[in-house]
Amino acid sequence: MSQLSLPWLGLGPEVAFPWKTLLLLGASWILARILIQIYAAYRNYRHLHGFPQPPKRNWLMGHLGMVTPTEQGMKELTRLVGTYPQGFLMWIGPMIPVITLCHSDIVRSILNASAAVALKDVIFYSILKPWLGDGLLVSAGDKWSRHRRMLTPAFHFNILKPYVKIFNDSTNIMHDEDGKELSDEDIRAEADTFMFEGHDTTASGLSWILYNLARHPEYQERCRQEVQELLRGREPKEIEWDDLAQLPFLTMCIKESLRLHPPVPVISRCCTQDILLPDGRTIPKGIICLISIFGIHHNPSVWPDPEVYDPFRFDPENIKDSSPLSFIPFSAGPRNCIGQTFAMSEMKVALALTLLRFRLLPDDKEPRRQPELILRAEGGLWLRVEPLSAGAH
Ligand code: HEM
Repeated sequence: MSQLSLPWLGLGPEVAFPWKTLLLLGASWILARILIQIYAAYRNYRHLHGFPQPPKRNWLMGHLGMVTPTEQGMKELTRLVGTYPQGFLMWIGPMIPVITLCHSDIVRSILNASAAVALKDVIFYSILKPWLGDGLLVSAGDKWSRHRRMLTPAFHFNILKPYVKIFNDSTNIMHDEDGKELSDEDIRAEADTFMFEGHDTTASGLSWILYNLARHPEYQERCRQEVQELLRGREPKEIEWDDLAQLPFLTMCIKESLRLHPPVPVISRCCTQDILLPDGRTIPKGIICLISIFGIHHNPSVWPDPEVYDPFRFDPENIKDSSPLSFIPFSAGPRNCIGQTFAMSEMKVALALTLLRFRLLPDDKEPRRQPELILRAEGGLWLRVEPLSAGAH
């Protein structure tokens, strides 16, 4: 057997044999890795080819900076959704592909996939991690399913019912559990998560509802009459649990606002398995996938005239044949919003009591939408409010 001599390493023929074997093994390993990577890239490329791409800015930037978190970016996104109604592929720089899905038919496979397959994408959610820790929104695996199981009873109707005591009661439930299962760090992460997911989102939702009703005085007045009718002859004028189902038009107005201005405009996933879409295309595993809630809600092939605020879309008669995934402000599937009934109840009560006391009027300047994690308005959302005279009640 020939022996490799490596005099430049100070190695004579007697020690070269193991080096030769090691080098060969090392080189084969590297080659195998390279081949696997090339094959994976080729496979991904073939699958990604099925998704249309808007023109890139240039080869280096890809589509980076095309959809900015500004009013202009929202308009650009609306245009893209109109052009590519099922979804589209964009590149962050030359190497990182991101698929955006914006149709109810196509998000089903990802949203309904098990939480172990459709993971939260690390890049997108890592911004939240330093603040929210490993709370329900960000956590994964066994920890997520254990915490979700443990916290779900805190949002049961029976807990939400005694409305005024809601904060006490849900906090108490968590306290009961904490001694047994949750560490201090866990409790902090869940509390921060509920403050963020529960407060900022509801505040955004409510602000845009007030805005939309300020712009549509006819719907505002109809809501007000519904509330006045409900509370006629009652003192004090408070909304109770059973009243929440007796405000159908106000509920339609809230839903239409959550459609037009979804407080969480986009969520993101990165799947551990290939995801087969109903139309035969495949989202390859490991690819970042944005589920554009805003895109679905503004998609003309899902909602005709999507920019028009029309609460009658949510008339039970009109909505009954629509896909449940055409309206997903609270997402859907196993990782949907745990607090959605809480949020809807809170928004109904706050809106009903506001309309009872005030008339809402738009500000002179149109707000400019600003999608950070939550859909905000640049410089805040300004409205004018006029107290209603006692006679108007
Ligand atoms: C209008 C109000 C709200 C909206 C629009 C909203 C929307 C959402 C959305 C879209 C998700 C999915 C996030 C993702 O997949 O990355 C989510 C998850 C979540 N929401 Fe909400 N939310 C609202 C109110 C609340 C409230 C009031 C609470 C609690 C008090 C809450 C707690 C959570 C939690 C803990 C999760 C994570 C659930 C999990 O992954 O298991 N949200 N929410």
